[in-house]
Amino acid sequence: MSSGASFYLTTPIFYPSDVPHIGHGYTEVAADVLTRWHRQAGDDTWLLTGTDEHGQKMLRTATANDMTPGEWADKLVQSSWLPLLDTLDIANDDFIRTTQERHETSAQAFLQKLYDDGFIYTGDYEGFYCVGCEEYKQSSELVEGTGPFEGQRVCAIHSKPVELLHERNYFFRMSEFQGRLLALYEERPDFVQPESARNEVVSFVKQGLADLSISRSSFDWGIQVPWDPSHVVYVWFDALLNYITAVGYGRDDEQFARRWPGIQLVGKDILRFHAVIWPAMLMAAGLEVPKHVFAHGWLLVGGEKMSKSKLTGIAPTQITDVFGSDAFRYYFMRAITFGQDGSFSWEDLSARYQAELANGFGNLASRVLAMVARYFEGRVPEPGGYEAADEAIQRTVAAAAQDADAAIERFAINEALGAVWTIVEELNGYITEQAPWVLAKDPARRERLGTVLYTATEGLRALAVLLSPVIPQATAKLWTALGAEPQLGPLAEQRIRAAGEWGQLPAGATVGALVALFPRIEQEIGASA
Ligand code: MSP
Repeated sequence: MSSGASFYLTTPIFYPSDVPHIGHGYTEVAADVLTRWHRQAGDDTWLLTGTDEHGQKMLRTATANDMTPGEWADKLVQSSWLPLLDTLDIANDDFIRTTQERHETSAQAFLQKLYDDGFIYTGDYEGFYCVGCEEYKQSSELVEGTGPFEGQRVCAIHSKPVELLHERNYFFRMSEFQGRLLALYEERPDFVQPESARNEVVSFVKQGLADLSISRSSFDWGIQVPWDPSHVVYVWFDALLNYITAVGYGRDDEQFARRWPGIQLVGKDILRFHAVIWPAMLMAAGLEVPKHVFAHGWLLVGGEKMSKSKLTGIAPTQITDVFGSDAFRYYFMRAITFGQDGSFSWEDLSARYQAELANGFGNLASRVLAMVARYFEGRVPEPGGYEAADEAIQRTVAAAAQDADAAIERFAINEALGAVWTIVEELNGYITEQAPWVLAKDPARRERLGTVLYTATEGLRALAVLLSPVIPQATAKLWTALGAEPQLGPLAEQRIRAAGEWGQLPAGATVGALVALFPRIEQEIGASA
């Protein structure tokens, strides 16, 4: 299934200085839902994620743990970052680590090109550096410290002191790109999304751009500057390049042409790196800029951005151990408007699990299949003549499929889920109104009973396909129980853009028993949070 348009999506590459929390999990899941959808639509899809392993933060954390940064990265990647992908059912196509040879070599080639073309010069820099952000800060970005840092100026994001650095560095002539960047935002209003992110970037760039310091010489954990081994490449400059080095830049022209330009999905904390520095770098190298940069919002816990450094971090397994990975995926995609901040609470998660997944969707599936088993010996019945109520379901299914696809196209994942959920709601209402258990008592209404249960079963078929990018485990179970695979093939091969076409599940398919898709949670939740 790779004949369609190219859809190459990336997540930020994460610092493996520490273990992942649900904020990182949120980005991974969103990227995975979008790519699963496109993959199932037949697009030529590629999902890249990975780890950002150079820089001072990594160096310091490793040193504090009596390891080399390379050893520390290996340990964390193996014990935490790769397992995160399993925990959350992420179907990534590649995982890049910036310490890999393929990245280092291609990143050096990129840098050398910019140097040869006159975009890089030597200069002196003095400024305040935040190791947490791995970024020089303007005075306006600092705030008064509190607690142990009272009396000091601290980074507004990390609440930790910044360091005054004075170095002779290599600089990238970023200031030259102000005009071209503003023209880009103007000509392609959907380049930076959502609108609020675009506005922020436009007003930032309008104030003028400084050149960017792109090397460091006071430590050696990084990619060597090819023409001057006494410098290593600034960690952000190195990290941004992963999006092209992973798909063959400088090594495999065919793969690069097939994938690039891609789409960068990031948290809004790192929007400027992606919407300003990154396209300027690409322009300097004569490469295409990304198709889009989409910035999602923050997960807030207790009203604050959830973060490990502020000790509000929640490990993804705290949620998946209790509710399962499908529930994690569903909850964050449904409860938060993609592109805006959203608050996490155990109560909300638990309430939605019970009302929407267990009672709304899970019960619907098990009730319908139980009735097919009881009234038709487990065979999907032949529908008779359709009545208005049945046709209304068919229209709901068609509209939901179309609306969901259009919403995914706009990165509106929560709207897509809302559209699909109209099928769950309508079908539940339909079953109550049609009351198959009453029809079953009257042999004269046997054909009507068949039509009603066919309608409900075929509705479940559409739901399995449309929900499979979000809740892959539950929908796989449902697909098996529907007896759909022998008739229609594997769930992953169902074309999602055709999911709304009525009448795909043939009468006579043999349905099986369905275990509770979302069992009751007995455990007291959130106790450890
Ligand atoms: N290594 C850089 C990114 C380089 S990309 C070329 C980095 N890494 S990070 O480990 O700090 O991850 C930041 C990303 O994690 C955010 O952009 C976002 O995707 C995710 N999140 C971290 N905390 C989050 C929340 N509280 N809420 C939502 N997303 C969060 O920055």
